[in-house]
Amino acid sequence: MIPVCAAVILKSGKVLLVRRGPGRKHAGLWEFPGGRIEAGETPSSALVRELREELGIEAVVGAEAARARHVYDFGEIELIAMLVSKYSGELKLTDHDQLAWVEARLLLEYDLTPADIPIAKTIAAHKRRSRYKGTHPREFGDKYKELGADPDAMAKAKARGSTPAGAHLPVMLKEILEALAPLPGATILDCTLGWGGHTLELARRGAKVIGLDRDGEELERTRERLRSAGADIVARQSNYAEARLVLSELRINGVDGLLADLGVSSMQLDRPERGMSFKNDGPLDMRMDRSKGKTAAEWLADASEPEIAAALERYGNEPDAKKIAAELFGRALKSTADLAEAVAVAKGLGGGKFRKKDAFAAHPATRVFQALRIIVNSEHEALAQLLRDLPLLVKPGGRVALLTFHSGEEALVAEALRAQTGMWLSVPGAPLKASPEEVRENPRARSARLWRVVRA
Ligand SMILES: C[S@@+](CC[C@H](N)C(=O)[O-])C[C@H]1O[C@@H](n2cnc3c(N)ncnc32)[C@H](O)[C@@H]1O
Repeated sequence: MIPVCAAVILKSGKVLLVRRGPGRKHAGLWEFPGGRIEAGETPSSALVRELREELGIEAVVGAEAARARHVYDFGEIELIAMLVSKYSGELKLTDHDQLAWVEARLLLEYDLTPADIPIAKTIAAHKRRSRYKGTHPREFGDKYKELGADPDAMAKAKARGSTPAGAHLPVMLKEILEALAPLPGATILDCTLGWGGHTLELARRGAKVIGLDRDGEELERTRERLRSAGADIVARQSNYAEARLVLSELRINGVDGLLADLGVSSMQLDRPERGMSFKNDGPLDMRMDRSKGKTAAEWLADASEPEIAAALERYGNEPDAKKIAAELFGRALKSTADLAEAVAVAKGLGGGKFRKKDAFAAHPATRVFQALRIIVNSEHEALAQLLRDLPLLVKPGGRVALLTFHSGEEALVAEALRAQTGMWLSVPGAPLKASPEEVRENPRARSARLWRVVRA
């Protein structure tokens, strides 16, 4: 095993982790700035030497931040990450360095072990983007500079009306806060915690929030983020179809407010490895909880042609469902790019013939992706169960805010609320839409519909 030290440089509470991209000298080693520990050196003296030799900077090397073992094809290394609290000179990174700014607290508390690949993966996924000169980037990294969590890039992304990659802007936040009107001490069940945007504001108003999300991977990040923002909430990995069980485990007999912001989060869509979007090529997965159930690729492989057509029609209102099903059936599709191309071919737009006319033009595979995601995650079944349980989950006088994003969800919500006559003080005919200002700032809000009811 080769022991390797790596520098961790602090910048406003964040640490910089860097490694050299594959195919370069020392590829795969967590070695920049940093490197091998020579005989007779301690990790910190090796790092001081490396920084001087490699970068010409004099550094103060402090405590050890983390240790981890990594097995590469050239052998096993032990990475010892050291804190560099001060350094002289300028830090210059080259294009092939892969880097990420990570919360300092996260890393310091993170006891890396061989099983802790996620942190390594997260960092590997956050590649430094190459300088892209064109206007229509095709590569994920070219588009999402803000994945590096650089605050300037984040602010710029917001200013140009897009969601910073790896984040999620809470939709109709003001309207939801008004609808739930939480009093200090009120218990609120956020059935879809996501990034925690709504929850954070509810907690700031003094509400005691119980946040559920079926996605354990994002939940972990959200838990940390909320904790560092000072929001003390109960976060549980759970399907909201099981919300009653969670409340009974917590010995809560009805909540004062309930929020469900349906669908997927921007983080899930933006992470190629989740396989939710045709925008970034990744494995054809689409599961919100990757520990359970069939992936989209597996579902497609097991489904008959009529089953595929029916799913695309029902969950995606796809007008070319039959043609697409004929194209997809019997194909061993593995990646989101394969699926997007197969759909484009079925629509006569294969081989790159599809060109966006404007920013709002939908990709030909949009409806197919939505349909498969809904079916893979049994989204309608879960929503139907939540709606059935709704009157039991909220106390009399308790408030409910449900945010839907497509006609299938709208139909389920409208039907359930209408059927529960007498349970709600008033059932509004039409749901609220996001303001034009919000839609301009956050295009994901354009199909949002907010349903609000108060328990009788
Ligand atoms: C639109 S996001 C919520 C965003 C959140 N309101 C915020 O402000 O950050 C939807 C979240 O609901 C989760 N989700 C979807 N279906 C779920 C279910 N049946 N049970 C629990 N969580 C679910 C997804 O994993 C995703 O994180």
